[in-house]
Amino acid sequence: MTATIQKKIEQLRDTIRYHDRKYYGENNPEITDYEYDKLVKELQRLEQLSPEFITPDSPTQRVGGEPLTQFPTVEHRIPMLSIDNTYTDAELKDFDRRIKRMAGIGGHQDIEYVVELKIDGVATTLWYEQGIFVKGATRGDGFTGDDVTANLKTIRQIPLKLETDGGKHKIPPVLEIRGEIYLPVKEFQRLNEEREETGEQQFANPRNAAAGSLKLLDPRITARRHLRIFAYALGYYERLELQTHIQCLELISGFGLPVNPHIKLCTNIDEVIHYCNEWNNRRRELEYMVDGMVIKVNSLLLHEQLGSTSKAPRWVISYKFQPEQAVTQVEEIIVQVGKTGTLTPVANLTPVPLAGTTVSRATLHNFDEIRRKDIRVGDYVLVQKAGEIIPQVVHVLKEKRTGCERPFDEPATCPACKERVSRDDQEVYLRCHNLFCLAQAKRRIQYFSSRDAMDIEGLGPALVELLVDKRLVKDYADLFYIRKDDLVNLERMGEKSSSNLIKAIEASKNRDLDRLICALGIHNVGSHTAEVLAEHFDSLETLADETQDELETIHEIGPVVARSIVDFFRNKHTGAIIGKLKAAGVNTKKISAAKFVKNTKISGKSFVITGTLQKYSRKEIETLIKSLGGRVASSVSKKTDYLVAGAESGSKLNKAREYNIRILDEDGFEKIIG
Ligand code: IVH
Repeated sequence: MTATIQKKIEQLRDTIRYHDRKYYGENNPEITDYEYDKLVKELQRLEQLSPEFITPDSPTQRVGGEPLTQFPTVEHRIPMLSIDNTYTDAELKDFDRRIKRMAGIGGHQDIEYVVELKIDGVATTLWYEQGIFVKGATRGDGFTGDDVTANLKTIRQIPLKLETDGGKHKIPPVLEIRGEIYLPVKEFQRLNEEREETGEQQFANPRNAAAGSLKLLDPRITARRHLRIFAYALGYYERLELQTHIQCLELISGFGLPVNPHIKLCTNIDEVIHYCNEWNNRRRELEYMVDGMVIKVNSLLLHEQLGSTSKAPRWVISYKFQPEQAVTQVEEIIVQVGKTGTLTPVANLTPVPLAGTTVSRATLHNFDEIRRKDIRVGDYVLVQKAGEIIPQVVHVLKEKRTGCERPFDEPATCPACKERVSRDDQEVYLRCHNLFCLAQAKRRIQYFSSRDAMDIEGLGPALVELLVDKRLVKDYADLFYIRKDDLVNLERMGEKSSSNLIKAIEASKNRDLDRLICALGIHNVGSHTAEVLAEHFDSLETLADETQDELETIHEIGPVVARSIVDFFRNKHTGAIIGKLKAAGVNTKKISAAKFVKNTKISGKSFVITGTLQKYSRKEIETLIKSLGGRVASSVSKKTDYLVAGAESGSKLNKAREYNIRILDEDGFEKIIG
C-alpha cells in the first residue's frame, strides 16, 4: 500500500515537473492552470496522507507556507557588487581600451565579450547544496540581503532540484546561481488592473512590482504574482572546472535554470557596439523590460586578473538605453468606471510617437495623483512608458504654462450613470455605488467571465459591450438566460460561434465555489481571497449569512475585506442576482474534495508551534495539524487558538500568555487531537 502511494507520489511529481518545464521553460503549456492546480492538490493530498514521503524538492514545497513577520538576513559569501554604467558607443570603446591596458594586451589583439540583455528586475542569489535549492536572497546592500527563500520557491522556473545536465557536469556540492527576478509586462498590467479594482495603490513599473512581490511576507501572495527569473552568473561554487563565462551560462542552463536566449558571444568591441544598438531598437519585441545591455569579458582568468573596485567588477559594464520619454499636451481628462465602480482618471493627449507606438492616452491612476503632480488640462507633460504599454505622466512642464490651463475637479457624480460618488476614508479611489450603472455592469460581466473567475470561453470584452448595449444582459446572471437566437444576428456572431458561446456559458455553471465567489466581483475580493473563503464555507449561502465579526476571525480576512463582503450581500440588488444565478442552475456549493478534514476536534483551529519538540519534527506536526483540518501560523496573534510549546520556547510563549491563549505541551496536544 505505502509502496503504491510512494510510487504515485513520485509519478505525480515527475508529471508536475514536466508541466513546469513546458509552461515556463518552453512557453508551451499542454494543460490549463486549472488542471495543473488539480495535479498539485492531488499531490498535496497524498503527501498529507503519507507525510514521511515529503521531500524538500517536491513541487508542493513551492506552495507558500504561513506568513513571516520579517525576513532573516543573509551574508553573501561573495559580495553582490553593482555594475558601472556607460551610455555611449565611445564609452564602450574606452572600456575595451581599459581592459586591454590592464590585461597587458596590445591594441591589435581583441577581447572576447559576452553581451546580454540587462533585465530590469531585482537581483537575487540562489544556493544549491547537493543539487537541492536550500536558500535564496535579495542583493540588499551587496554584502547582506534578505532571505526570501519561501517566496523564491513559488517561482516554478527555479528548480527545487537541479537537473542532471545530460551528465556533462557532476552536480557540485555547493553552487550559487545569480539572476534577475522580473515580472513580465503582461503580468504587471494584470496586477495593476487587479489593484485598481480592489482599490490598492498601483505599481509604477514592472521592476517595483517585482521587488514588492519578492519582499512580501506572505509567500501565498507572491505565488500569485507569477514572477520569473533569468539566471546570468555563478556566485560561489565548489569543484567545477570552468574557463569562460559562456561555459557558466551553459552549465546554468543545463542544470535547468532559464538563461536569456538573446546572448551573444562577440569577438571584438565593434561587434559588441553593433549588438547593443540592435537591441536598443528591438527591445520592444520583448515580453519583459530591459534597461540596457550587460557586456562581460568571456575569459574567467581575465576576471581574476582584472578584479574589482569597491563598487563593481572591472570585467563587466552596462550600456544603458535612453529612457523612452516624450513631451506632449493634455487635451482633456476623462474618467473611466471600473467593475466595482472605481473611477480612474485618464488623460487624453495630443498623439506623440513614443517607444514604437503613438501615445494618445495616459493613466493618471487616481485623483490624488492629479493633485500631487498638479496636472491641468492644457498642460505640457513629460510622458514615459512604464510597462512599455501604458504611458504615465512623469511631471508637468510648468515653465510652458500660459495661464490658460484648467485645473481638473474631482467628479461628484459617476460619468456613466450620474449617481453620486464617494470616497472611502482609507482609500485613494472614488467609487460609484450604483449596481445598475451600465459602465460598471460591462466591467463586472467581463470580470465574471474572465479566466480567473467563471472562465467563459469566447466571451471577451467586445462581445460583453455588445450584449449590454443591445440590452440582452443587464447583469452577469442574465448571461445564463441568453438564447442562441439572440446571438446569431449580432455582428460577427455566426451560427457556430453562437452555439459555442451558449455551450461555454452552460459549462461555466459547474465551476467550483471559489471561482463563483471571485466572479461575483465583491470589492476587495480577488481570486486569492475567494479561495480562502471557499476553503471556509461549503456554499455561497453560508458565506452570505456570515457576520462581519465572524468573517474577521478567518485567517487572512481583515476588517476591510470583511466589511466589503457584508456590504455586498446586504446590498438590495445582490439577492435578486444570486436568485437568478441559482434559478439558472449555477453551482453555489463546494465541489472539490474538502481541502481539509471537517469535524475533527481541531478543524478550523489555528495553531502556532514554538520551541523544540521531542516527538515530532516541525514538518510532521504541521502536516498532522493540517491533515486534521487545523491551520498553522508562524506568529501568535489574538486569532491563535493553541500554542504548542516545546523546550526553549521564547517570545511566542510570552505573547501567548499575554493573550490568554491555551498553551499545550506535546502530551496536551495529543489529548486535544484525540
Ligand atoms: S551581471 C557582477 N547580467 O543589473 C556582475 N546583471 O545594474 C553581476 N542585471 O545588480 C551582474 N541583467 O541585478 C548581470 N544579464 C545581466 C543582468 C544583470 C540585469 C542587473 C543585476 C545587477 C544590475 C546592475
